[in-house]
Amino acid sequence: METIYTIAELQKKIISGKAAGKKVGLVPTMGALHSGHISLVKRCVNENDICVVSVFVNPTQFNDKDDLINYPRTPQEDKKLLENAGCTYVFMPSIEEMYPEPDTRIFNFGTLETVMEGGFRPGHFNGVAQIVSKLFYAVLPDCAYFGQKDFQQISIIREMVKQLGLQIEIKSCPIVREADGLAMSSRNRRLTPEQREKAPQIAQFLFKSLAFVPEKSIQETLEFVKTNLSSDSIFKLDYFEIVDGYTLQPVSDWKDSNDIVGCVAVYCGPIRLIDNIVYKQHAD
Ligand code: PAJ
Repeated sequence: METIYTIAELQKKIISGKAAGKKVGLVPTMGALHSGHISLVKRCVNENDICVVSVFVNPTQFNDKDDLINYPRTPQEDKKLLENAGCTYVFMPSIEEMYPEPDTRIFNFGTLETVMEGGFRPGHFNGVAQIVSKLFYAVLPDCAYFGQKDFQQISIIREMVKQLGLQIEIKSCPIVREADGLAMSSRNRRLTPEQREKAPQIAQFLFKSLAFVPEKSIQETLEFVKTNLSSDSIFKLDYFEIVDGYTLQPVSDWKDSNDIVGCVAVYCGPIRLIDNIVYKQHAD
């Protein structure tokens, strides 16, 4: 595995790889890697000749300064994990490399970005689109890998690829969880022992709510999850929404769509965690 710091150097490697007929996959990350990230990397390694993993804590997608400052950074451990997973190139650029001048681009994702994370984290998806589009232009991968843990992010990236007319296949990968159900997240390492002990309840209430389909209504399902997540003062709920898996707009009946997902964002102490559960999925 080679560590690369500049776009120019990365492009040189990719261009010669492509000239040799190699298929290129990209996994964008912000580092502090865990088994969730590594599942994406392993799939990328399996499905491509060259696997590029970017590790960059992107300042433009943080709407909370403290979150950016406290975001965990573990570059040496990340490199070891990536080497073991079979990554070809790890791209670790500086902020100046990715933003030699301020990125003033404003994307418009319509109603995809006004709901859920978009509503609670203004500017977040614009920052995600800025960095992911820069990475896409730098690498021009055949495929790029994203986790379903960030469910709305995948919809935004697919829409961005369409708007920019890029020929990049977006691959969506399942959520990797701890044994107790907690969705793996770089932010989990900031939980205190007490918060870490309670955080799995988020996933556990989501799993329990699966049994509500289809006998109990959407309204009852919403109330079940919201009430349970409000019963312990360690949690502060931002939202729990049951939405169409493509439009991300709320549904009011299980029959409204063939793809229905419940998405939650909740503070556990000061740490904001997100998770989701698929209630209905159409057969491909
Ligand atoms: P980050 O939070 O580091 O996540 C990188 C990728 O790993 C994302 O696609 C995310 O959905 C996936 N991922 C995280 N936890 C996961 C889990 N438990 N199971 C499966 N996949 C998981 O998402 C970002 O970074 C950034 O927004 C980024 C796309 C890199 C742009 O800066």
